Amino acid sequence: MTRTAWLNGAFLPLADARVSIMDRGFTFADGIYEVTAIIDGRLVDSAPHLARLERSAAALGIPLPLSLAEIESIERELIARDGVKEGTVYLQLTAGAAERDFLGRPDHPTFVMFTQPAPVLDNPKALTGIKVATTPDIRWANRDIKSIMLLAQVLAKREAAAKGAQEAWMIEDGFVTEGASSTAMIVTAEGILVTRPNGRDILPGCTRAAVEALARQDGVRIEERRFTIAEALSAREAMLTSASTFVLPVIAIDDTPVADGRPGPITQRLRQLYIEAARAA
Ligand code: PDD
Repeated sequence: MTRTAWLNGAFLPLADARVSIMDRGFTFADGIYEVTAIIDGRLVDSAPHLARLERSAAALGIPLPLSLAEIESIERELIARDGVKEGTVYLQLTAGAAERDFLGRPDHPTFVMFTQPAPVLDNPKALTGIKVATTPDIRWANRDIKSIMLLAQVLAKREAAAKGAQEAWMIEDGFVTEGASSTAMIVTAEGILVTRPNGRDILPGCTRAAVEALARQDGVRIEERRFTIAEALSAREAMLTSASTFVLPVIAIDDTPVADGRPGPITQRLRQLYIEAARAA
């Protein structure tokens, strides 16, 4: 399979795409990113991901070198060139290359995009569910910015993987903030979908927004409030949402089963509704 990168205006073989060692993304993590799903060779929820890209870039003061429509057409071109039916497209924008200086502001940002094929629809984890492990949330305060500064999440996922779990649920002040790369949700014994309100302490998930809207239309009550692991362990269902996984059942937390330890019906219905909506869009 050919793999193509788009880098600062040019399509080129992914293996030939190079950026400077003086890039502020490399030296300072001065950059932001987005991940958008592809199914049936089409982008899923593209508009909210592009809107968040624009917000994140503005928060770091990095000028977007292209309009959102231009960015989307490059994403489409990459999908076509690589022939990706299912997977994700990754976008990263950094402040650009300059002499190492904390206050430096290069004239030209570095903008890169590439695709990653992956089974999104027939993800086996959708049937089995996944286990999560809890870790302390050691990230910075501005988590609503989709920063490339992901070391805390890498360490959290590594710790979770060492415990046999497939995602980390990060904890702050006794409450779940979010997954290391996903939004955390539970369904209470009363059937209420609970997820943390958006704020600076979490990334406002695009998948979460779509899933909440679909759940509401489907008659599910939603409460946006913080929840603890104790509450999650007394819940009827737990799940996570993200662009790369859509909706996945969480069947155990720190090796304690959630309810009967099997994927829950509301989770499976929301996954189905999300996929149907994405295909119909
Ligand atoms: N991560 N919270 C965090 C910390 C995330 O990194 C992500 C996404 C989400 C879910 O957001 P969305 O539904 O918009 O994908 C929540 C992507 C998939 C990643 O880093 O690969």
